[in-house]
Amino acid sequence: MPTVSVTTRDGRTKEIVGTAGRSLMESLRGGGIEEVLALCGGCCSCGTCHVYVAEDWIARLPPIGDDEDDLLDFSDVRQPNSRLSCQIRLTDVLDGIAVTVAPED
Ligand code: FES
Repeated sequence: MPTVSVTTRDGRTKEIVGTAGRSLMESLRGGGIEEVLALCGGCCSCGTCHVYVAEDWIARLPPIGDDEDDLLDFSDVRQPNSRLSCQIRLTDVLDGIAVTVAPED
């Protein structure tokens, strides 16, 4: 089971246990990170699952898709390490990934 280190908006860091094969967003919500609203349910249309991925993990992720990139362009808080957590499939290769929940847009 891949673990995820997540820093929430109040600056606290928590380790959660994710589920391989499901999205990072689902694992964050399943781990009680409710500030990841995921209003669209993972359809890449709301942007409320926005996270910042720790720099040393960015290169290990699949490339960003066009839809994800376009949606992130609407965010005022986009950074170079921004990703939508619903678009990242959690695998054992990502065990230990560190993310920070982006500020509310
Ligand atoms: S859950 Fe809506 S874009 Fe990710």
